[in-house]
Amino acid sequence: MKTPAAGLIRRSLLKNTVKGSTTKDTKCTKKFLNLCVSAFLFFVIFVGMNLDGCAALITGASAGIGREFARQLATRTRTLVLVARREQRLNELREELHSRNAQLSVHTRVVDLCDKIQIDDLVRWLEQNKIGIDFLINNAGLGDYGSIGTSDPAQDDRIIQVNITALTLLTRALLPQMIAKRQGAILNVSSSAGFLPIPGMGVYAASKAYVNSFSEALRAELRGSGVIVTALCPGPVHTEFGDAAKRPGGQPKTGPEFIYVSVEQTVRDALAAIESDKPLVIPGFFMKFGMFLVRATPMPILRLAWRLGARRQ
Ligand SMILES: NC(=O)c1ccc[n+]([C@@H]2O[C@H](COP(=O)([O-])OP(=O)(O)OC[C@H]3O[C@@H](n4cnc5c(N)ncnc54)[C@H](OP(=O)(O)O)[C@@H]3O)[C@@H](O)[C@H]2O)c1
Repeated sequence: MKTPAAGLIRRSLLKNTVKGSTTKDTKCTKKFLNLCVSAFLFFVIFVGMNLDGCAALITGASAGIGREFARQLATRTRTLVLVARREQRLNELREELHSRNAQLSVHTRVVDLCDKIQIDDLVRWLEQNKIGIDFLINNAGLGDYGSIGTSDPAQDDRIIQVNITALTLLTRALLPQMIAKRQGAILNVSSSAGFLPIPGMGVYAASKAYVNSFSEALRAELRGSGVIVTALCPGPVHTEFGDAAKRPGGQPKTGPEFIYVSVEQTVRDALAAIESDKPLVIPGFFMKFGMFLVRATPMPILRLAWRLGARRQ
């Protein structure tokens, strides 16, 4: 990395270290110092966000992964804005968080993220109350277990509104202030389902593929801006997700227990990823390994596997 800063540091180091050496020695020393300075700057520039004392907004804070984010951040942040539809759940959580940290400022906002007007109201409320968010956790999400041809179009629409539209609108609304402050972080809760098309979860998997792609593009655009973007791609986690995604009379989909990761571990890994500026985090060894294989598998092989799977049913 040849930055002006690297050159400046290298020149001042050289002045003090290479007096009296031969031209060949000087060239080697120059190269070595250049390398050291570049490596040092690389780690300084790519260090993640310190979450202590920040103001975080968490969507989908009334349950599962979002609620755990609030719990783990309660002793570290100065302000938490908790967003979801179930007001009583949010109020109970606010009480719990206050009992853990009396200094913490906790705001609850009842917002249906399917409704753009309510999203605009939330952003306006933040502005009116001068709450500058420097950590946005786009966590709210929902799915649907079943084929696309038999789905409820209203549920498909809700998945797209919450998983894609709300995430995009909130990011767009809160990003300029982070860029202006040259500090901030956006954690998009995606899913391992976003790495491949999943028959039987088609709309959900496609919505999470959007989140993965959007997060990578945003991260690339924001390189060097001081704003970090990370996508969290969990495999199965025990939350209310399965109950919310199952169809009337259906069963929540379950996988083998060994691929499940606890909600606590999922959130710990995600926060660690933000603090070390990782683009992507897949909690759990088995899911990491499994997703490595899935991402390396060419689409024709996946199509073949689906064809064989369909024949067996
Ligand atoms: N659990 C898993 O196995 C798993 C795996 C991979 C990825 N994920 C992702 O993790 C995220 C969190 O899911 P979870 O497992 O914690 O599920 P969860 O326990 O069902 O929680 C979902 C949260 O999203 C909120 N939400 C849903 N629709 C909303 C709407 N229209 N407006 C506002 N908030 C809404 C819910 O709040 P209200 O109902 O109170 O509005 C709830 O707080 C999701 O993005 C999901 O796709 C989960």
